[in-house]
Amino acid sequence: MAQQVQGVIAPGRNEPVRVETIVVPDPGPGEAVVTVQACGVCHTDLHYKQGGINDEFPFLLGHEAAGVVESVGDGVTEVAPGDFVILNWRAVCGNCRACLRGRPQYCFDTHNARQRMTLTDGTELSPALGIGAFAEKTLVAAGQCTKVDPAVAPAVAGLLGCGVMAGIGAAINTGQVGRGDSVAVIGCGGVGDAAVVGARLAGAARIIAVDIDDRKLETAKSMGATHTVNSRSTDPVEAIRELTGGFGADVVIEAVGRPETYRQAFYARDLAGTVVLVGVPTPEMKLELPLLDVFGRGGALKSSWYGDCLPSRDFPMLVDLHQQGRIDLAAFVTETIGLGDVEAAFDRMHQGDVLRSVVVF
Ligand code: APR
Ligand code: ZN
Ligand code: ZN
Repeated sequence: MAQQVQGVIAPGRNEPVRVETIVVPDPGPGEAVVTVQACGVCHTDLHYKQGGINDEFPFLLGHEAAGVVESVGDGVTEVAPGDFVILNWRAVCGNCRACLRGRPQYCFDTHNARQRMTLTDGTELSPALGIGAFAEKTLVAAGQCTKVDPAVAPAVAGLLGCGVMAGIGAAINTGQVGRGDSVAVIGCGGVGDAAVVGARLAGAARIIAVDIDDRKLETAKSMGATHTVNSRSTDPVEAIRELTGGFGADVVIEAVGRPETYRQAFYARDLAGTVVLVGVPTPEMKLELPLLDVFGRGGALKSSWYGDCLPSRDFPMLVDLHQQGRIDLAAFVTETIGLGDVEAAFDRMHQGDVLRSVVVF
């Protein structure tokens, strides 16, 4: 029987979000219904609300979540009722050209639930990133559920479902940071700080955090940055070069998503170094660089979607490392809030007051 639960809806472009009753169908073949225990507030939820992703309102927001599988549909073997899972937006298909070449972390045909959740009047909802987890229960594809150690706090685990995974993955998967490397991270919000954590985990010898806000630099330091640069008052390219013997960092991670910070990343890296763009630009942004510098400086210019993560490989591993005390994911949870507080959390996010607000149920 379909169930009625409370969920956070973005009704129309720039309209305030609100809690409404939503209808969650029973899981069909290949689907699962998950009782959500925690869901972080991510920038992408705000972008959906602002109409920056697409116009398929109303949206059911929330996509950084963990919970317990309540029921599964026919043919589901990978998870069972009672399993503690993190929801992912990269449910790999196994059949696309990336999957067939053994690169499922790039899967180009990820899947979501086939059925739609609705409002009580039957209006179909568009779940954010195919998840929609600011809701007591949500319907997803079974492949979107990744089992992890149930001993971890749900508010912490859920963060791996998006922003924290994007940052850690930008360092360890996309940037391939190795022992002894020098790394610079430009933009130290939740994603940039996660890149700092990833760089430290990978054994980076020097981790230079760059931001325009001293509060952010303090936090980055507590996460493992060895040096900090306030780029409002100091030229970050010069500063990073000075801190790396005059050469630049082996890997520079751009976690803002703007042309000027990308240029800084490009020039702050050593010859043959790597730039990783994990910040998300907006459609009107353009980048201009001397092509001779692109050629002459060598190395790699990479973009990192979702930290190039493979959920089944990376989520359980990172939860285990957290449980062992080798990374501190709890430090990303600035506050826990209720389902009715998402609009206020967007304001706090906008003001730069939080790394993550997490809705707990
Ligand atoms: N130079 C350096 N740092 C900057 C600059 C700049 N010009 N402009 C902004 N910042 C810093 C902010 O001070 C903040 O600390 O970048 C950080 C951005 O952090 P958040 O707003 O918390 O964003 P976050 O969740 O980390 O996401 C970063 O990745 O997923 C994408 O859409 C997201 O593009 C965004 C990026
Ligand atoms: Zn695929
Ligand atoms: Zn997100």
